[in-house]
Amino acid sequence: MKMQGGLVLFCTVLVLSIVPVCTIKKLNSINELKKVDFGRAVPKHSLLLLHWFANTIDIDNNDVIWLTFDPNLGTYGSHHYGNYERVLNPLPRGNGRYRYYTIGNLFQGRSDLPNYVLHPPNAEYRGRNRDRIIFRVREHNTGRQNGETVDEVYITQHYENSNEGTRYDPAYTYQITINLLRQIRAFSVEDNQGNSLVELSEDFGSNINNLRLNSLKISWGELACLGLLLYIVLEEKYYKNNKPWPAEKRNTQPHCVINLPDNSENHHDAPHSWRERLVHQNSIQLEVTTGTNGKAVIHWKGVPKHHLNERVMVVLYKDNNAQEAMFSKVIASGSGHVNTSVCLNVGLQARLHKTKKKYCFWTVPSDEICRGDECRNPEKVWIHGYDASLQLFVKDGKACARLFVNKSFRNWMTEFKKSWVGFYDNPNKATREYKWWQWQWAPKFKPASTPLNDYYDVYEYHSGMSIAPGVQARFILRNDIVMAQTSWR
Ligand SMILES: *[C@@H]1O[C@H](CO)[C@@H](O)[C@H](O)[C@H]1NC(C)=O
Ligand SMILES: *[C@@H]1O[C@H](CO)[C@@H](O)[C@H](O)[C@H]1NC(C)=O
Repeated sequence: MKMQGGLVLFCTVLVLSIVPVCTIKKLNSINELKKVDFGRAVPKHSLLLLHWFANTIDIDNNDVIWLTFDPNLGTYGSHHYGNYERVLNPLPRGNGRYRYYTIGNLFQGRSDLPNYVLHPPNAEYRGRNRDRIIFRVREHNTGRQNGETVDEVYITQHYENSNEGTRYDPAYTYQITINLLRQIRAFSVEDNQGNSLVELSEDFGSNINNLRLNSLKISWGELACLGLLLYIVLEEKYYKNNKPWPAEKRNTQPHCVINLPDNSENHHDAPHSWRERLVHQNSIQLEVTTGTNGKAVIHWKGVPKHHLNERVMVVLYKDNNAQEAMFSKVIASGSGHVNTSVCLNVGLQARLHKTKKKYCFWTVPSDEICRGDECRNPEKVWIHGYDASLQLFVKDGKACARLFVNKSFRNWMTEFKKSWVGFYDNPNKATREYKWWQWQWAPKFKPASTPLNDYYDVYEYHSGMSIAPGVQARFILRNDIVMAQTSWR
């Protein structure tokens, strides 16, 4: 007995002299989480990991944490952690068996972890696979409680410096209390959006204004609750003392949602009478889309055998009224696509023609069989909180943006003094990852050459960036506040 006591004392002294275990900080609330140096000393990604973990475990009414997966099976990339460097407390003995597990290796967990942890929609949260969660499992082999419960949770990270091998850095290891886990669970992405986002921000004493809430909804979509958590933890401390934004006052007035009559911008889009013809031709579908280089691609589908047998071709026209072919190709299968050398423009139309021989060897189009829709720009989108909207459009294969400003919004140049429109390769890019040089201040947009209607002033900017599927334009009010975004399909 005496010897055992001595041994324990000896071990304790030894442990204390190697690593001062007591220095591991405990985080008990979201307010305390704000004090962690995320983005510099600690990867922001560990917040995503923690959010996911908190929403993956079960917490019962007695404050017992239950696992919903077996960490011994490697689910989510979990595995046993020996604590050999003594970063954490030595395992207690007695009643039940304890073990530490680590989780969050993006490579090992890639088949189970959700997409927002593996590939965060916003690049600044992308992980470099250094951050981990460690949890301590207690195995109950007796009594009523059969199974495995978790009694401690930590966030930690591997040393940046590879000389330290794969050790965890005790300086940036934090214990997460059950209270904090519960708070984070309030931001579950499964809960519905809308009002609850406002309530959630109020519950946590956030000063977020409507403008930023809208911006979060626009940029995080279904993950808006997570976006709000990240905003509260990472950014709110910097904005807290700011005066309310001028636009916030506007927000208290009812908005006038821009709803143009259908024909208001139709000079871009020709009449649709040929739609009926398409219907009569029933199954054949023709479409013009963009390639990755801004060139038009013709797609066709459902071309019946008897047409193929008599040799047919897809032909590209400038628009529904055009008579002169810009590109043609004989097709041999019922569905497929062809990359053309024609720069994409609105109006382009694909038609299916029978063929004939000219001078015995040229195959040229003869009678038309049917035609597809004209290529159209995406619909314009409302710039939240303003009588204005943003449209992404294509001009000679390049991505361009158009601002529609209600004529009554006379001071738009002042309101949008610091606003800009940026172009992005795809919707997953962070706001500051706009394409190099592919952006413009809103007040520097040029008046469009053709006034479109009596209600709006229209301004345009032509970027040098090739249009491609997924190319996105965003209207950024200032800093990183996205107020509208629209993508090329
Ligand atoms: C433009 O703004 C005015 C004043 O806010 C509003 O009455 C009008 O309906 C708006 N026009 C359109 C087309 O939305
Ligand atoms: C068209 O271009 C795309 C992208 O460059 C390519 O993947 C595809 O194979 C091309 N299609 C044809 C029929 O050449």
